[in-house]
Amino acid sequence: MTTYQDFITHIQSSIQASNFIKLSLGDYKGGEPDLKNIYIKPVLIKRVFKLSFTYRYKTRDITKNFMVEEAIEQIQTLLQENGFRVATLFTTKENTICQWNKKREWMLKSEQPTASKPDSLAHDHQKERKIGSTSKKYLAELRLTDSEGKVFKNAQDKWRQINHYIELLSSMLKELPAEKELNVVDMGAGKGYLTFALYDYLNNELNKQAAVVGVEYREDLVSLCNDIADKSNFNALSFVQGTIEDYNPSPELNVLIALHACDTATDDAIFKGITKEADLIVVAPCCHKQVRRQLEKVKATNDLDFMTQYGIFLERHAEMLTDGIRALILEYYGYQTKVLQFVADAHTPKNVMIVGVKKTPNLKRQQEILAQLQETKAYFGIGYHYLERLCGLTS
Ligand SMILES: C[S@@+](CC[C@H](N)C(=O)[O-])C[C@H]1O[C@@H](n2cnc3c(N)ncnc32)[C@H](O)[C@@H]1O
Repeated sequence: MTTYQDFITHIQSSIQASNFIKLSLGDYKGGEPDLKNIYIKPVLIKRVFKLSFTYRYKTRDITKNFMVEEAIEQIQTLLQENGFRVATLFTTKENTICQWNKKREWMLKSEQPTASKPDSLAHDHQKERKIGSTSKKYLAELRLTDSEGKVFKNAQDKWRQINHYIELLSSMLKELPAEKELNVVDMGAGKGYLTFALYDYLNNELNKQAAVVGVEYREDLVSLCNDIADKSNFNALSFVQGTIEDYNPSPELNVLIALHACDTATDDAIFKGITKEADLIVVAPCCHKQVRRQLEKVKATNDLDFMTQYGIFLERHAEMLTDGIRALILEYYGYQTKVLQFVADAHTPKNVMIVGVKKTPNLKRQQEILAQLQETKAYFGIGYHYLERLCGLTS
């Protein structure tokens, strides 16, 4: 038996003997852009044992679950054909490392075990949820859980969304300054599901000191949320009635959030974040009427006419154009930007999240961005973008 086959047998035996903890594949030399590592761990999905593969790319993770036999085939392909040069198998008994060496052959070595096994797979699955426990006062008060902490059936989607939201932001939230109290504003907080979760995560999971303000137009929601914050002893969480446009955040703003605020209200929120030089700006835009109206009115003749003649494509165009320009303007002010999928398409079409992390503006890049803005507007026949005008970047 070759060393490589030995390694595959090690994996199979450890799964059979239930001492498999995880497997990592690294030193990637294959052709897929930005792929760095793959982490494989056991999961129980609807009581079926599977192996969950997390493909770690430079700016995102993709997870796929496979039945064991299929997973073993995948691992073999990834090692033999797809360019991973090192694999480490962690079991309760030992770590086994299989490495492609300079002589172009696989070498195997064993080391003392370093990983401990989770209590149960179901427990491991629970730990993935960022809101550590479901037995929290605010979750019950928001009618997401019953008094015993069981998530209501009709609240499962919301619960998943909350956890996914925190998961998307967690690495950036961890990077926020630790030495002082953080100021966070959530513009258009609505019923506060995500505002409460963010407060809880920052203060109780990350143990930072964060004061969070939810800004909301509807008086009834503001009063409900303040009441729940009181009952939960969330002393540094408050909700204020007012508009995003009129709200003046504290000068030391660290995080600005605006999730599903209508049309240009998202721009008003981004503008406040930029003006206060917030460390982190996170928006999930809602409708894109301001740009869409202009697209419809002008009907520019360009190479994309064959698509934009259809209403549904024009709609999607307006969305990408509006949010693309928002990301570009954030970059102009020195924000490192990412555009992510916030929630699955099945739950809501409003599923894009733009995240900006404050870095230093680059003068040369700023000139390029200004030129790109002008070209883009001319190409699509739009006179202005609302955020561009707020920022005074129009020519
Ligand atoms: C779709 S809800 C989203 C709530 C919450 N951010 C979320 O994602 O679950 C939008 C909320 O923003 C509020 N809102 C919209 N425009 C606003 C504005 N200009 N100023 C203040 N609140 C606004 C609405 O009243 C509504 O409660």
